[in-house]
Amino acid sequence: MFYFYGRKKQLASHYPPPQHDVIIEPFAGSAAYALYDDNWKREVVLIDRDPRIVDIWRWLIDDARPSDILALPDLKIGERSSEFLHIVHAATKMAFAYKTIKVTPVLERNWEISKRVMATAVSKVKHWQVLCDDYTSAPEVEATWFIDPPYKGDPGMGYAFGSDRLDYDALSDWILQRRGQVIACEGPHGNYLPFAPLRVNMGVAGKQSTEVIWLSDTAEMERRRAKECSSAEQLVLLPSAT
Ligand SMILES: C[S@@+](CC[C@H](N)C(=O)[O-])C[C@H]1O[C@@H](n2cnc3c(N)ncnc32)[C@H](O)[C@@H]1O
Repeated sequence: MFYFYGRKKQLASHYPPPQHDVIIEPFAGSAAYALYDDNWKREVVLIDRDPRIVDIWRWLIDDARPSDILALPDLKIGERSSEFLHIVHAATKMAFAYKTIKVTPVLERNWEISKRVMATAVSKVKHWQVLCDDYTSAPEVEATWFIDPPYKGDPGMGYAFGSDRLDYDALSDWILQRRGQVIACEGPHGNYLPFAPLRVNMGVAGKQSTEVIWLSDTAEMERRRAKECSSAEQLVLLPSAT
């Protein structure tokens, strides 16, 4: 919905489609999977521990109209902003720690694009729910669970609630107890479930990062592993997962 470090907008088409009427994203961020394709039409429940992210979602769900979004002021290079909705558009995870930010050309451009995207998409989220809480507070229902926590280790640092604050063994147990379809995402250090490679991302300055996935659907996991063995050398190089 909005620019967000670690969002799954570019990767959304590589995850299985939802099989249940309810989609739960217990680590919501900008909720790229729930918004992808027709997924948004289902009953969507978002959970995030960061109240600043939840406030954005509450505004989008309860109040914002396309005209309100398009009327938000443009950003000017060099000016400063303390709006969290601006800060998340800075294209760096360091921005999560900033109280104010100086507008760079990248931020100015991201904000301009994002305003148009949000204005177009906001009508899709009016029936969604959002909770400001820990992932463990998610309703105990059968659902499609899109689980995208801060990645273990350094890649998941920088968020207000980052990898340094997560117990990954407890997360693993919780994931295995979900009812329904589970899609769990991780990065290069994800080792608490038998993850399979999804993609290698090309990041800034040619830096590569690996995206891995675990699915509760064992047949689909086997299919992906078999494909991986037969075409390991063909892992697609994508631009950074933005
Ligand atoms: C990798 S981001 C999710 C990105 C999202 N899939 C997207 O497409 O934008 C991880 C999110 O988990 C949230 N988070 C971290 N710890 C949490 C916890 N214990 N419970 C719920 N949310 C948490 C962070 O605030 C952050 O928004």
